[in-house]
Parts: sequence; structure tokens; C-alpha cells
Amino acid sequence: MKRIDLILDVDTGVDDALALLLAVRHPAMRLRAVTCVAGNAGLDDVVRNTLGVLAVAGATGIPVGAGAERPLIAPHRPSVLFHGAGGLGGIAVPQARRRALPHAIDLMRKTIAASRAPLTLVALGPLTNVALLVRTAPHLARRLARIVFMGGSAHVGNATPIAEFNAWGDPEALAIVLSAGCPITMYGLDVFFDAIVTPADVRALADSPKRAPRLAGRLLSYLNRMGQEERRVAALANTTLGDAGTVAAVIAPTALKTARLPVGIVLDGHAARGQTIVDRRARKGEGDHGGPLPMTEIDVALGIDAAALRRVFMDALLGH
Ligand code: RIB
Ligand code: CA
Repeated sequence: MKRIDLILDVDTGVDDALALLLAVRHPAMRLRAVTCVAGNAGLDDVVRNTLGVLAVAGATGIPVGAGAERPLIAPHRPSVLFHGAGGLGGIAVPQARRRALPHAIDLMRKTIAASRAPLTLVALGPLTNVALLVRTAPHLARRLARIVFMGGSAHVGNATPIAEFNAWGDPEALAIVLSAGCPITMYGLDVFFDAIVTPADVRALADSPKRAPRLAGRLLSYLNRMGQEERRVAALANTTLGDAGTVAAVIAPTALKTARLPVGIVLDGHAARGQTIVDRRARKGEGDHGGPLPMTEIDVALGIDAAALRRVFMDALLGH
């Protein structure tokens, strides 16, 4: 199995917590650093949640850096409706005995500079920290093996009818990241909800004698309840892995169907602000001359092998 050296940038959040557990427990993952950004919750909550989840997973040796406490230009707009006031849906994690390093971007720069193996940077929140890395150390950003970001959508949004929460949270940051000069994969809403676990999986995790799977069971039960509320249904069979699907797709890239497509991000446009424009046309059109939007060709996820990603997650959480 190919080992993957990675940095995770998170706005922990319920599904970021699942992604952290997967990245710590999967044997193919070598998690070198975690950086925190304001997104689902305020930066202090994100740092506390991240340190607590890593403590549950027994990963207190992985350095954690505190990053941007708000987007580059936009105000910070947390996802209280979905992730709750503290960011973890009211699920308690232990108060960590250690503190985060004060500067996430320094931690990113030092980790990339010191790494012999090319690093994959997986971003699961607004891209504020990653944009600051690109602007302050462009040569190090170019050295990354790949940036994989959970964000954007080629179709419908969630934060707005047409904008996904992470892209909408800091659209200027995404515009900067698209110019990073390294390979980029967009894991957007087009696949985000397709990576799932079954009710039996959630029960098996919740019933585990070990803390990390049990925490995953609680987090997934919360996501299932929120999914029921969102869809106004009395029961929801499967539960989305959310951000953890992004990490599972890094572990099993053959489970991700991507297309190399021009992508841009709307910065003005009021109602359209934060929308990712994914150009899937076979040819240019009349409106393209002097295009209103800078577009960058990146790898856009359009489909996943959900069974394969489910196995990656469940084997890591229950397998050992
Ligand atoms: O739109 C989904 C994304 O927004 C996920 O990363 C979730 O954690 C929130 O950050
Ligand atoms: Ca997230």
C-alpha cells in the first residue's frame, strides 16, 4: 500500500472530525500536521475540537496549528445551524492537555520544506489558510504533490442555492488557491453526499469498546439526525461521510472519477458570490471572449465508488 504524507486543514466540524479519525487510523496515511481555520465554527472552537478528536484517537504527537480566524475579505459566517454552536453538534471530546502552535501557515511551510516525500494538502474548510500559504510561500505550494479540497459544486449549493459552504465561506481564498501551480482536485458537493456508511456500520462503530470508533459512531448518528431534519424525513438509511469521504478518496484514488475541467469562482455577483463555475462544454461560446472569470483547469470529482470509500473508512475505524 502506498503511504501518503499529508497535511490536513480543517474547520472541525462534525464531518472534519470523522476525517481526522480516518487520517490518523488508516495505515496508508502519514498525517504530518493539522492546521485549523475558522469555518464551521470560530477558530478557538475549531482548535479545541481538533485537539480533542486527536486526543481521542491517541494522536497527541501530531502538531496542530491555529490559522486564520476569519476569511481574507468576507466576514466569518459559521455553520451553527448544522454543526451547532461549538462545532461538534454538542458531542463532548476531552479537553486536550496541549495547545496548538500559534501560526498554522508557519507549520505548513516548515512541514512542506522539511518533507523529503511530496506532501498532499487536504483542505476541508474555507481555503483561507491555503491561500495564505500560496501567497507567502508560492515555491512551497508548487512543491505540493497535490491540493485536494472539499469544496465547490458543479451543480447545486448548500450555503446558498448555487454555492457550497467552504467556497462561499472564502471565495477570494479559493480564487488564490486555483493559482497555486500544483495539481488540484476539487471534491465538491457533486460527490460529497454519495460517500456513505450504513445503519449497521454506525451501530458497529457506536458499540465498539474503543474510544475512536465510538466517537465516530456518535458523530455519524448526529449527521444522520441532521440529514433527517434537512430532508424532513422520519428516517434516513445511510449517512454521509462528508469530509471523511475526501480523505478516503485520497487513500483510494481509483474510487474517484474525475474530469479535467476549467473551474472559476464568482467573487462579485451578489446572489452568485461563492459559486464555482465548472465548464463542462465541449467548445467555447459567444460569451467567452474576454471572459469575465479567470478559469483554471483542475481535476473535478464527478463520481465515486461509494462501496470502496465505505470500506476504506470502516476498515480503518474498525479494522485495528
Ligand atoms: O459544504 C460542506 C463543507 O462545509 C464540509 O467541509 C463541512 O465540514 C463544512 O465545512
Ligand atoms: Ca469541513
